[in-house]
Amino acid sequence: MKPDAPATRRNRDAILTVLKTEFVDATSVLEIGSGTGQHAVYFGGAMPNLEWQTSDRSENHEGISLWLADKKLSNVKPPLTLDVTTTNRVSASYDAIFSANTAHIMSFSAVKKMFRLIGETLQAHGVFCLYGPFNVGGKFTSKSNEEFNQMLKRQNPEMGIRDLETLNELALENGLIVGNRYAMPANNMIVIWRQGARG
Ligand SMILES: C[S@@+](CC[C@H](N)C(=O)[O-])C[C@H]1O[C@@H](n2cnc3c(N)ncnc32)[C@H](O)[C@@H]1O
Repeated sequence: MKPDAPATRRNRDAILTVLKTEFVDATSVLEIGSGTGQHAVYFGGAMPNLEWQTSDRSENHEGISLWLADKKLSNVKPPLTLDVTTTNRVSASYDAIFSANTAHIMSFSAVKKMFRLIGETLQAHGVFCLYGPFNVGGKFTSKSNEEFNQMLKRQNPEMGIRDLETLNELALENGLIVGNRYAMPANNMIVIWRQGARG
């Protein structure tokens, strides 16, 4: 049976509206941490001109493949095995990268590695779009995010909502420029970074 993450149905339209703007010039998207694959088939179906490359740790591949087999979208590609802690290089390069709800699930050292990989993988002027909850100015943006963070920490102390300013520093260290920021429903955000001109 296909896996189901109900949150993807709640957040997908708000995310899609932003992707249609931010990915307007993109042709090839790498998704990091595709999870169930539901975002991939929804966004890939709504933007058929984009080639959407799914990826995740291998434990999620079966579920992603079930969604891909069900929707049969020629532009949404079977998952690459991509664990940011062990994947140092992706063989293709992309003009867009998308990731949702990953930075607070990964350890901070994995987040650092994700930004390094993105810096190496994105083409010049390519765009990285990260969706999820973030702290601003070192503070939670809502009580519910604070409670969510406590729940994450009980599960695994290495998880946690990241500070936007810290992510901006990681982005800059890896050649990315800070872009737009969008408020999303349920105290989430989309944050955009752009690859600079590559030498
Ligand atoms: C909360 S789920 C989000 C899934 C999906 N993007 C969504 O929004 O429904 C977190 C995802 O991050 C992935 N993830 C966690 N650690 C990872 C790592 N080190 N490298 C790549 N993906 C990772 C998980 O496998 C999972 O798919």
